[in-house]
Amino acid sequence: MEKPQVLVTCDMLPPWPEILSQHCDVETVLDDNLTKDKIIKLLKDKDGLICLVSDKIDAEIINTCSQLKVISTYSVGYDHIDLSSATKNGIYVTNTPDVLTDATADLTWALLMSIARRIAESDQYVRDNKWKIAWAPKFMVGGDIFGQTLGIIGMGRIGQAVAKRAQGFNMKILYYDMFKPNPKIVKNLNLQYKNLDELLQESDFISLHVALNKDTYHIINEQKLKLMKSSAYLINASRGPVVDQKALTFALKNRIIAGAGLDVYEKEPIESNDPLLDLSNVVLAPHIGSGSITSRTKMAELAVNNLIYILQGKSPISLVNDKVLLVKSLVNMRMI
Ligand code: DGY
Repeated sequence: MEKPQVLVTCDMLPPWPEILSQHCDVETVLDDNLTKDKIIKLLKDKDGLICLVSDKIDAEIINTCSQLKVISTYSVGYDHIDLSSATKNGIYVTNTPDVLTDATADLTWALLMSIARRIAESDQYVRDNKWKIAWAPKFMVGGDIFGQTLGIIGMGRIGQAVAKRAQGFNMKILYYDMFKPNPKIVKNLNLQYKNLDELLQESDFISLHVALNKDTYHIINEQKLKLMKSSAYLINASRGPVVDQKALTFALKNRIIAGAGLDVYEKEPIESNDPLLDLSNVVLAPHIGSGSITSRTKMAELAVNNLIYILQGKSPISLVNDKVLLVKSLVNMRMI
């Protein structure tokens, strides 16, 4: 049997590129500016794709690349893929859940602590050689964390992992989600459900852990930001467009809220003239939520195995579009 042709748009952690090459003919293209035209050209004769959140795989690409059988994204989020077109065309879409939950929850806490206790600002201050008075009562005073109220929007895997970490800080935990978590989890983590407005009004920290879709787009907008306490902080390690970034920038600049910790943006990478860059009450990370060695290695393992399993005609570990099974059976996918 001829090996399947696969396009990979990133440099995966070892040993997964080698393992993939044992089963497939792989073309790896590392290009920060992978336009739609380039993707179509590269993908036309491919059976499989391993891509990133930054690769927009839209209906036109999917409809044009008729040989494509599987899109395996090296991410848990799949808002960059036109799922309904993929399903209609019998293309299997997989993602990498679970393996990045802890890394993302850790990063969320890093942002939370960094903005509340002004770590990034302090670091810059020391490096800029501005530290001239050894100690002063009002110097770099920040917000409290221990015993405060944490509001979590989206109580899925990552939201729960963030809540678990909050136990050690003796926090009251409020949550809002359209889907209620298992009652056992609610009890064990001592979670209190609130509607969105109540959560925003009562929390000292608000952390977003929702997928991006039409219900969550700009879920935090000007009106919602105004509901927050002026002493509260907003943390976003989910997707940029969940927050109206213009409204957030205004709220930070005018101290409508105390600060924000962000790992994601409406446009990534952030523009060099983005007004957020001029504000000291925001900590900015470059979309590194899943960026631990273990997490990124396990994501590669999952992305590669999902793709290989499908091309072997076997059930993948994490299929996103179950309905595709009704369009094209797995047996028809078999190439390895
Ligand atoms: C994801 O997995 O969706 C992240 O945003 C990238 O790690």
